[in-house]
Amino acid sequence: MTAERWSADSWRSKPIQQAPEYPDKALLGDVEKQLAGFPPLVFAGEARKLKRALGKVANGEAFLLQGGDCAESFAEHSADNIRDFFRVFLQMAVVMTFGAASPVVKIGRVAGQFAKPRSAATEKQNGIELPSYRGDIINDIEFTAAARTPDPRRLLEAYRQSAATLNLLRAFATGGYANLENAHRWMLGFVKDSPQSGRYQEIADRITETLGFMRAIGLDPEAHPELRATDFYTSHEALLLGFEQAMTRVDSTTGDYYATSGHMLWIGDRTRQFDHAHVEYCRGVKNPLGLKCGPSLKPDDLLRLIDILNPDNEAGRLTLICRFGSDKIVDHLPNLIRAVKREGHKVVWSCDPMHGNTISAAGYKTRPFDRIMSEIRTFFAVHQAEGTYAGGVHLEMTGKNVTECTGGARMILEEELHDRYHTHCDPRLNAEQAIEVAFLVAELLKAERIAFPLPQVHAAE
Ligand code: TRP
Ligand code: MN
Repeated sequence: MTAERWSADSWRSKPIQQAPEYPDKALLGDVEKQLAGFPPLVFAGEARKLKRALGKVANGEAFLLQGGDCAESFAEHSADNIRDFFRVFLQMAVVMTFGAASPVVKIGRVAGQFAKPRSAATEKQNGIELPSYRGDIINDIEFTAAARTPDPRRLLEAYRQSAATLNLLRAFATGGYANLENAHRWMLGFVKDSPQSGRYQEIADRITETLGFMRAIGLDPEAHPELRATDFYTSHEALLLGFEQAMTRVDSTTGDYYATSGHMLWIGDRTRQFDHAHVEYCRGVKNPLGLKCGPSLKPDDLLRLIDILNPDNEAGRLTLICRFGSDKIVDHLPNLIRAVKREGHKVVWSCDPMHGNTISAAGYKTRPFDRIMSEIRTFFAVHQAEGTYAGGVHLEMTGKNVTECTGGARMILEEELHDRYHTHCDPRLNAEQAIEVAFLVAELLKAERIAFPLPQVHAAE
């Protein structure tokens, strides 16, 4: 089966889950053709650089921070939102880099994260049945027949928005905004205002001292561009394969195929059947890939998927994004780890503590902060017990002060969710909750570093 020839459209002859029904197929064809002629959003060389960085994560020499909206929306596309997200992301990265004492690979769920898998194809309200909302790249969330009809023109709008978002992110990442000392200063502002500041103060002070020491010996951002800039990558779920196919390009330097819609693509927990369309598409592009691993994934199925997606056992090619739930992770993760270890597969293990911890409360979908942290803690503990490296976290988060997840230092209550509940899809950590996660992960990372020491400077004899 894996020996079968791959092409950018070979997925079309496979069974497919979660595919929208477009009434206007002619228009869809036109739009996909137009997209195929547009410039790539990312370059193959960047995807390769990310793969090398993730290879370091697989070897225990770096840590992965991946996060962003559950789903980006057309309505909330603004410079302010992008800036606020990026700012929070950098604050998290500073804290985690310090905790891990190693590089943090930074990947946003951004500039292309538009399509959503749904548990049901249709939704019923007051006796009326309409297609489910599948993300702004496909249809509109409003509950009318016109809004819910999949509209191919939305692919063009998604491309336009992704390009504009990426353009701004590139400017922020390289144009001075990402200066390490800036990010640190913002983080100090967070600590000062947090009701839990006592808990975070110690790490914050140590980072302040470290930066002061670096400055004293001449390692300042003015003289060292690497302290002013950062590598920031994009990722999204490769769900809408017509879009992905149109954005697939042959890299002129290697002759390989790359998805140019984002640096990293992942396969969702609902679309990872080894002989279906999504796995077929992803196996043929050389980008780094993610695979969502939920409670229904059996060790043998995982091994089969790894053989298909990473046949050359390339470190950095495959990130296993585990999303079991705080109460289920101990039942599932150890068996997957043992199977992967036994076969000698090089993978990145990342923890998505969001998707297995979604509950309903006060009429809202929400996620309790304590459960999110509990899944992360268990993730680290299981890896420690198995002698493997907990390599990253995958979060749904925003830079805004929303009220979508309960708990955190500011103790958002279920009754307060209605206040600023803005998500189009799943509940996200707000800015403060996201930075709190980073501080708590930094503590876990520090402990993990003892088990995975990096090459150290030794005193002269
Ligand atoms: N270039 C380094 C890195 O990306 C240092 C750095 C610059 C940095 N700006 C940053 C680290 C902002 C974290 C946050 O790791
Ligand atoms: Mn989600």
